[in-house]
Amino acid sequence: MKLITLSLLIALSFVFCSHQKLKSGIDPQAFNKSLNGATAKLFTLKNKNGLELSITNYGGRIVSLMVPDRSGKFEDVVLGYSSLDGYLNGNEQYFGAAIGRYGNRIAKGGFKLDDVNYKIAVNNGPNALHGGIKGFSMKVWDAKQNSDQELELTMVSPDMDEGYPGMLKVMIVYRLTDQNEVSIYYSASTNKPTVINLTNHSYFNLHGAGNKDILDHVLMINADHFTPVDPTLIPTGKLEPVKGTPFDFTTPATVGSRINDKHEQLTFGLGYDHNFVLNKEKDQKISLAASVYDPISGRFMQVFTNEPGVQFYCGNFLKGKEIGKENKPYGFRSALCLETQHFPDSPNHPEFPSVVLRPGQIYSSACMYKFSVK
Ligand code: BGC
Repeated sequence: MKLITLSLLIALSFVFCSHQKLKSGIDPQAFNKSLNGATAKLFTLKNKNGLELSITNYGGRIVSLMVPDRSGKFEDVVLGYSSLDGYLNGNEQYFGAAIGRYGNRIAKGGFKLDDVNYKIAVNNGPNALHGGIKGFSMKVWDAKQNSDQELELTMVSPDMDEGYPGMLKVMIVYRLTDQNEVSIYYSASTNKPTVINLTNHSYFNLHGAGNKDILDHVLMINADHFTPVDPTLIPTGKLEPVKGTPFDFTTPATVGSRINDKHEQLTFGLGYDHNFVLNKEKDQKISLAASVYDPISGRFMQVFTNEPGVQFYCGNFLKGKEIGKENKPYGFRSALCLETQHFPDSPNHPEFPSVVLRPGQIYSSACMYKFSVK
């Protein structure tokens, strides 16, 4: 009798536990945590084609994204950790994160706006990166799951948060559509003039996270120019033509084909870590920024945005120390990021498209990652 009860209990707990796990293998319970009085959780979106997207309101992070290959086999195509503790203690701070208030770098952590000098934390060599020490990627957002396919995150960032002026009300809406699009809409308003540049920092590997590097991924970037940088990765202010350089991805080319060319900009970035100036038709809002194709799995990802730029970063700072989901190490160039954005250090470059947001204006940014197979 005891034995029957015991085996029943084991069977029940197995059913219960396995039921909890997502298609990606993630256990949502591993994301339940109270942080400074706020509750972090994992939310799951699903579409009719079986795609599954999980997002935690800790930093608005995309944790997993299950996408089929050409034979219908699903893999998780984004890097990340399998628990909230992973995100709190991991080496890489930005896996999948919502980045703000200012995605990318601001030179020497300072800028002038309306004749006032502002100082923000320097957290990347001599510069400020991705919103500071406790940027939006480190905060617990208020979350509302509107449906199986939509999650809404909101936050009020107080005046002088991380040194940025103005109380900012921010909203991010994530949608997983039946057209296999992961769309991310950002909106914000402020009560004082400020600067803003929001983006998502997903690290993609279309072979599946942790499976192999991305040097064979075929990349297209719809940009005739990029913004060259100094050795600390701050734009010089020039818009340089990509033609005849390893930065020309107007015709699709593998990430690895020219990454070891002798080019000063590749030395500075340890590879690609640059902002591209997107080609736009006049008054064009959302347009194709980039596409990535994995010839092995057939997975194809297109990136659309209304932003003027995209940062192409190919995991040059990953070193295999980051142990991610399913205990897989993430090695050198094992993923790529395509971060839709305004140009780096725009607050110090009046010649770049403006990142200033004033009271009464609505900031609005869109990024869409669309998946298919070829
Ligand atoms: C930057 C890289 C940086 C990475 C951190 C990218 O957006 O361009 O230089 O190392 O973020 O995750």
